[in-house]
Amino acid sequence: MENNKKLITIVLGTRPEAIKLAPVIKIFKNCEKFKTRVVITGQHKEMVHQVLRIFEIEPQKDLNIMQHKQSLTQITCLILEGLKKDFKEIKPSLVIVQGDTSTAFAAALGAFYEQIPVGHVEAGLRTNQLNDPFPEEGNRRLISQIGSLHFAPTNKSKVNLLNSGINGIIEVTGNTVIDALITISKKNIIPNFSGIDWKKKVIFVSVHRRENWGLRLQDIIKGLKMILKEYKNLIILLPLHPNPIVREPLLEAFQNTKRVILTEPLNYSELVGTIKNCYALLTDSGGLQEEAPSFGKPVLVLRNTTERPEAIDAGTAKLIGTDPKSILRETGNILINKKAYHEMSKAINPFGDGKASERILKICKEFLNI
Ligand code: UD1
Repeated sequence: MENNKKLITIVLGTRPEAIKLAPVIKIFKNCEKFKTRVVITGQHKEMVHQVLRIFEIEPQKDLNIMQHKQSLTQITCLILEGLKKDFKEIKPSLVIVQGDTSTAFAAALGAFYEQIPVGHVEAGLRTNQLNDPFPEEGNRRLISQIGSLHFAPTNKSKVNLLNSGINGIIEVTGNTVIDALITISKKNIIPNFSGIDWKKKVIFVSVHRRENWGLRLQDIIKGLKMILKEYKNLIILLPLHPNPIVREPLLEAFQNTKRVILTEPLNYSELVGTIKNCYALLTDSGGLQEEAPSFGKPVLVLRNTTERPEAIDAGTAKLIGTDPKSILRETGNILINKKAYHEMSKAINPFGDGKASERILKICKEFLNI
């Protein structure tokens, strides 16, 4: 029986990939038709291990590539080199990657070079601006060109793929983040942070994107200071990304500010509990734009573009950029204008129904004639 099983390798490297691939890994590991290997590249360390622990996933291999202030070239070269042996000798029938990180791109390219088909989870997201977000928009377009199975989370992403003139099978599956969210949300965890009283208005802030480094980050800091000055009852919860390039300026700006609670990155249970209990979110994260609508929490997106227009169309997210005045105006609007808040806090989720990983498994079985 063991010999009849098809070998699948699932590669992941960063926290969002771990969250969004966890339900896929679970369902493949539980399916007797497959032998599933999980390879982590080590692009992130602590942030990935936290997620894997929560979902009780034990990787089969760790390439351990993370370096302090790593460059995109280093990440890509080390992963390509690290996976070469794995793909050449073990030769899985299919390699699965997720999203648009450098791990996803390098793993897809490595598989392509070994002529192994690539299944791409969360395919077809586009801002149509090559440098925004950078390098993610480039990574996701490149993966689409060399992938064989494209798991589009929504109809919009399917249309983007059809317009890209790519090869392979395109299916709408929903986003696996909703599968993960449903699993964790059942635990009903109310996170406890010193200085946070969930009965007060707590704004959850997160920033990490490369295009927001430098001057834009300084603008975000100015905007947050303006909100705190204007709204005296407001509390900001700000988990710091481990990257020193974003972490250090935020620490310097807020380490002595009483109403800004700085924490280490939240684990996924704490994150889900925080979304459920906060008043609203200010973020440049993509995943949070997908998760927050499930709990009816407004998302003000600290970016000029989004590859997730579904949340904007549903009215649960709004692009506000990084201009301090815009941050003050838009946050003020949802703090004092009850109607505006209410309109953004509809608990609908355009991204999925929690069954995306089931659909992905089915499509892979058909593709491999199982
Ligand atoms: C990466 C992804 C981005 C994703 C984000 C989620 C790319 C190009 N970018 O960006 O798409 O949204 O992950 O967080 O793939 N670090 C640690 N410990 C960790 C993780 C990071 O110390 O567990 C520090 C290291 O100094 C590292 C730096 O953070 O050099 C940056 O990590 P990197 O993966 O290069 O970029 P992210 O901004 O995390």
